[in-house]
Amino acid sequence: ASSNYIFKVVLLGEGKVGKSSILLRFVHDQFNKNHLSTVQASFMNKKINFDNKRVNLNIWDTAGQEIFHALGPIYYRNSHGAILVYDISSEDSFDKIKVWIKELKKIVGNDIVCVIVGNKTDLIKDQKLSYDPEPHLSYAKSVGAMHFLTSAKLNENIDEAFLEISKSMMKI
Ligand code: GTP
Ligand code: MG
Repeated sequence: ASSNYIFKVVLLGEGKVGKSSILLRFVHDQFNKNHLSTVQASFMNKKINFDNKRVNLNIWDTAGQEIFHALGPIYYRNSHGAILVYDISSEDSFDKIKVWIKELKKIVGNDIVCVIVGNKTDLIKDQKLSYDPEPHLSYAKSVGAMHFLTSAKLNENIDEAFLEISKSMMKI
């Protein structure tokens, strides 16, 4: 027998970290090197199958620019999961994750599955960026969130992040 699930997921994080790129890669397997700032939010749907289970993901891609911050609750309230994205080349963007986690814990508590994603790992090779994930991994652990390192550009670990958040959402 197969089972069906419908989940709502929200992407949060600072502007330009790659939220829209992660979603475009996941849903359409495309990448655009130009940045088009998301205004308010946009929506995409994707169905995935695994272990005889069918999961329908309704994914909200929010705007990262600070002027849109106050719209956050519209999208994360009633969400089963939140994917918090930072850019591995920007420690400021990681600090923004901490702000979102605090806000989520305060407003929706433990009813939402949080996954932290460090995006743009391709920069490590291409720009000889030195990146030590350790502090980010231990922060994620301390707040009970999974952590993934992704590249929307190279399509690395994107499917895995959505698969694992789906598995966790099935448990709550
Ligand atoms: P807002 O909508 O303003 O919040 O930004 P966003 O988080 O949706 O960022 P977006 O996906 O628009 O990506 C911002 C820029 O980063 C774009 O120029 C992308 O091409 C680039 N980018 C996204 N993902 C990656 C990646 O994995 N590697 C590299 N090198 N660049 C990326
Ligand atoms: Mg965007």
